[in-house]
Amino acid sequence: MTVLVTGVAGFIGYHLARALLERGDDVIGIDNLSPYYDVALKQARLAQLCREPAFSFHHMDVTDRKALARLELGDRNIDRIVHLAAQPGVRHSLVAPYDYTAANVEGQLAILELARAMTGLKHFVYASSSSVYGANDAIPFSVDHRVDHPVSLYAATKRAGELMASCYSHLYDIPATGLRFFTVYGPWGRPDMSPWIFTQALFEKQPLTVYNHGDLRRDFTWIDDIVAGVLAALAKPPATSPPHAIYNLGNHRSESILHLIHVLEEATGISADIRLAPLQPGDVRETCADIQASRRDLGYEPSTSIEEGMLRFVDWFRSYHGYR
Ligand SMILES: NC(=O)c1ccc[n+]([C@@H]2O[C@H](COP(=O)([O-])OP(=O)(O)OC[C@H]3O[C@@H](n4cnc5c(N)ncnc54)[C@H](O)[C@@H]3O)[C@@H](O)[C@H]2O)c1
Repeated sequence: MTVLVTGVAGFIGYHLARALLERGDDVIGIDNLSPYYDVALKQARLAQLCREPAFSFHHMDVTDRKALARLELGDRNIDRIVHLAAQPGVRHSLVAPYDYTAANVEGQLAILELARAMTGLKHFVYASSSSVYGANDAIPFSVDHRVDHPVSLYAATKRAGELMASCYSHLYDIPATGLRFFTVYGPWGRPDMSPWIFTQALFEKQPLTVYNHGDLRRDFTWIDDIVAGVLAALAKPPATSPPHAIYNLGNHRSESILHLIHVLEEATGISADIRLAPLQPGDVRETCADIQASRRDLGYEPSTSIEEGMLRFVDWFRSYHGYR
């Protein structure tokens, strides 16, 4: 099987590509190596993938329609797409809004147009986000709940991406599945997310800023559980009409941010200097995934607690940065 993975130099794209290569698939990767966070980290992920003969890489932007058309002509045997390329980050969407419409709306459309042009495409899987639940206060968040109140532009662009995929699935009969990821963490993770920021602050003996005065809860999901969920979804194009489905991929556990810090203190052996601060615009108080539909349809069963996963993350972080 040949899978096109966009955002392949990113955190989830890198892990997914590795899993696909390990099971014997061919992977064609796309990434524009955006400078949103340390490009050296993206290049280090990519360097590992490029050692695999079954991996090929195109340094390009997903909004570059001409380059996508060339790709389509050159690689006629692509039978599945996993579209992960995006401008992520809730807080950054308040300062660089056009980056979000470009990557997440125009980019989603360009990849949908590519999917439409491909004759043998069996499944289009794309990344959405728990942030689409926005101001919802019915916990856990279910895919059956309405999602009409995004509280960040990032969330609004991710919801737009879902609606566009649903529309293309209806118009052109494209089998498409959207996956709402919940706060993914693990080795080779993202420097703009709390596990990384807090761990770095601990090693650097810097204060940890905790928003909403510590009253924040997140459903932290271990990267391997996410990859297992993506692979399960990829294998199962929706049998509905139109063939479009949306699933939550979370750990189904809402963890207090102060508990996360406690777990990281244990893993690093360093005590935190916590500074409490108000809720940031765009942020939500709590996330937690209802995974009933993902369990039922995909056999998705996350199995990694944050106690176990954060220990492994800190081990990787220590060796990557050379901390003792
Ligand atoms: N990590 C999480 O907790 C999380 C949670 C919810 C949703 N998501 C979604 O999952 C997907 C992957 O997230 P991630 O955590 O791996 O993020 P990431 O930033 O590590 O990876 C995204 C990759 O896409 C690339 N990219 C950005 N814009 C591009 C463009 N226009 N053209 C080509 N490449 C582009 C970036 O260079 C990056 O390597 C994203 O769609 C994100 O919105 C992630």
